Amino acid sequence: MRNRVVIFALTALSLFLAGTPAHSAEATPVDFGELQDGTRIDAIVLSNASGTSATIITLGATIQSLSVPDRNGKSDDIVLGYATASEYLEKPQYFGATVGRYANRIAGGRFTLDGKEYSLPTNDGSNHLHGGPQGLDKAVWKVASVESGSTARVTLTHESPDGEAGYPGTLEVTAIYALNDRDELSVEYRATTDKSTVVNITNHAYFNLAGEAGSDGVMDHRLTLAADRFTPVDETLIPTGELQGVEGTPFDFRDGELIGLRIRDGGDEQIRFGRGYDHNFVVNGAAGTLRPAARVEDPHSGRVMEVLMTAPGVQFYSGNFLDGTTVGKSGRIYRQGDAFCLEPQVFPDSPNKSGFPSPRLDPGDRYVNRMVFRFSTAGR
Ligand code: GLA
Repeated sequence: MRNRVVIFALTALSLFLAGTPAHSAEATPVDFGELQDGTRIDAIVLSNASGTSATIITLGATIQSLSVPDRNGKSDDIVLGYATASEYLEKPQYFGATVGRYANRIAGGRFTLDGKEYSLPTNDGSNHLHGGPQGLDKAVWKVASVESGSTARVTLTHESPDGEAGYPGTLEVTAIYALNDRDELSVEYRATTDKSTVVNITNHAYFNLAGEAGSDGVMDHRLTLAADRFTPVDETLIPTGELQGVEGTPFDFRDGELIGLRIRDGGDEQIRFGRGYDHNFVVNGAAGTLRPAARVEDPHSGRVMEVLMTAPGVQFYSGNFLDGTTVGKSGRIYRQGDAFCLEPQVFPDSPNKSGFPSPRLDPGDRYVNRMVFRFSTAGR
């Protein structure tokens, strides 16, 4: 009897809570200025009641800013980026951008599909990187819808014509950014094609959980990666095709480790090739299901970011090419190790690696790459 009363009370309480209106999240369109040629760029600001907000711009379907509270409730912008739209084209670094049609590298800018060889422009030594010099990050996307509610959401679309940057098929791409009242920013990429092709679309946000305007880099951030294996690379950062165990290497982040602890390990050839970390990790668990892949904690601000993803892999890049030649949106120079990227993706050079998960997309099928960046605080 007593149990029944308790169950009744709990049921009544949960019904009451379910009926309580959720905190609302707002999506607000604002102007983001013009490119040199006069093209207008729009921004959509997604914000929630706890002080988290994200600015998405139509140029490159880019996360231009992301403000998140620290453990004292003070919000700071935690992603690198530029203050104006034209800088994204003048000094391309893929800050927060949507990259594709094939994110990461394709060896020699070449691949074969159904017996036909395709040639793609090379823009990273002899390799094709992030869809080439005119990738999805340079396109001005259309705003398809903007919604406020318990989740604030913006949907952007872009059509990449057949043959663009050497890829077969007209690719219809959709990017959906959504912020809820639990401080989760989700990003979902979808694509369809009218001819068989290869696709790998991801977001290239550069995070510094201590704040983009601060002077400390990310070397003392603690990273945990749910990855037992990674894909070792050659000196041009093309995977060799092996899946190597992380055990006993600087790539073992399974129990959490400071990003900077082993980043100068000159005895490790892989660290030398990457000038630090610039490697794809094989995320444990079944690709296609949203599963926890990474957790990063900044000890100073207490900010914690968890990353969940459906992709088979994640490129962990420690900002090795930030060389002090770029001035960011708050007037500070970005230097090596000032930020890290975690890019959910199909493995690099998969079109040329039969043993890797396939990046193939056929007409009638739908490509989906979904990721969630979940924020909270820890400590003190
Ligand atoms: C990716 C690559 C890096 C670098 C950056 C952009 O993370 O793996 O090598 O090209 O993009 O600079």
